[in-house]
Amino acid sequence: MILESIGASMLLVGAIRTSNMSDQKKIEKIFEYTKTWIKTEQGNTKKCQFIRKAPISDVGTEYVYRLPLGMPFKKLEYLNENVGVFKDGLHKNVELDWDGGMLHVNVYETDLPRSWPYRFENKNGWKVPIGKTYKEVVWHDFDEVPHLVGGGTTRYGKTNLMKVIMTDLIKNHPQDVELYLIDLKAGVEFSKYQKLEQVKKVATNIEQTYDLLNEVCTRLEIKQAQAREQGWSNIIDTKDNSRIFIIVDEAGDIPDEGFMDSNERKTRKECQWMLSHIARIGGAFGFRELFFSQYTTADVLPRQIKQNADSKICFKIQNGYASEVILGEKNTQAADLPKIKGRAIYKDGPDLIELQVPYISDRLMNYYLKEYEGGADEPASNGDTDLAIEFRDVD
Ligand SMILES: Nc1ncnc2c1ncn2[C@@H]1O[C@H](COP(=O)(O)OP(=O)(O)O)[C@@H](O)[C@H]1O
Ligand SMILES: [Mg+2]
Repeated sequence: MILESIGASMLLVGAIRTSNMSDQKKIEKIFEYTKTWIKTEQGNTKKCQFIRKAPISDVGTEYVYRLPLGMPFKKLEYLNENVGVFKDGLHKNVELDWDGGMLHVNVYETDLPRSWPYRFENKNGWKVPIGKTYKEVVWHDFDEVPHLVGGGTTRYGKTNLMKVIMTDLIKNHPQDVELYLIDLKAGVEFSKYQKLEQVKKVATNIEQTYDLLNEVCTRLEIKQAQAREQGWSNIIDTKDNSRIFIIVDEAGDIPDEGFMDSNERKTRKECQWMLSHIARIGGAFGFRELFFSQYTTADVLPRQIKQNADSKICFKIQNGYASEVILGEKNTQAADLPKIKGRAIYKDGPDLIELQVPYISDRLMNYYLKEYEGGADEPASNGDTDLAIEFRDVD
């Protein structure tokens, strides 16, 4: 059974790490240790067959193997979940990928950046940069996957990612994007964005959250009626470019139920219902939900929201169980992330990608967005000189 063989192989992996075998030899040894082969009824062993190797730009090498016919998908998935065996054995970063009967073992000489500064780029559509891997920038496309759920221990970068997403959406679609912000950490993070033209409402307590969500639900009904009248079923197929984002930071910071009176408890339940409702049916009508929390229990992260968000992102988290709550069963990887701020596992459909999320300082965000702060143009402040230094330092 592959499960046992991976456990046992960890011991052997230590031995190959210190040997001076080539990376290709090491990969093939690991295939042996992990029994990545097929046994035929006649008792023959059919192994992965080396096809070629090729450089991945200047960051690593790709090794391509032909998989033996009949290799179960489950076995490959399991191997991928245990990609740590390759990382340990080669003492390098490794990613596995398979398609059309081929297994690609990508070996990287470089590490992920410990910090990756955000820069705005004009682009088409509703894509935002979500992070950088060993080899490329990963984008989250809100027209493909409308909702995003995020988790991770406090101080590892959830709010920063929401700021990156807000900045990028506003810069790229100043006319079409509308934002509803829910910040239950008493508004310490989001209150200051109230003055942006694109920000419709900011809620900082449970009553305001209730009003905000009511407004969104009413708008959703109007859009649904419009769709019926005009005969469309998904906004992305129409000329309507408006998109409404509901961004929830620290959803779990709603006061403990024990301290709530029954009215508050009822309001909280209704808020959760509305958030679930928007997640469940809003996508087709241009409503996008971002739901981030350090708490990952079911009463904070309603099942409906999780089920309707096909992408998830999880920063460093306390244990494998908490990681599974965000990323799905058996996906414990966020617990093993290094203690680096902004380092996360992004789940895009079935793919799990380790990446470094872009970092934006408050000053840079202010620089990008100050033209959207209603009212008279403010004279350029001295801060711009400092900002020039910031650009120079990081580029
Ligand atoms: N992507 C990142 N890259 C580098 N540093 C980051 C990143 N995200 C956050 N940080 C640092 O960590 C601090 C805490 O991040 P924050 O987003 O407030 O965490 P959370 O909301 O998860 O508690 C930030 O003030 C910043 O200094
Ligand atoms: Mg935060």
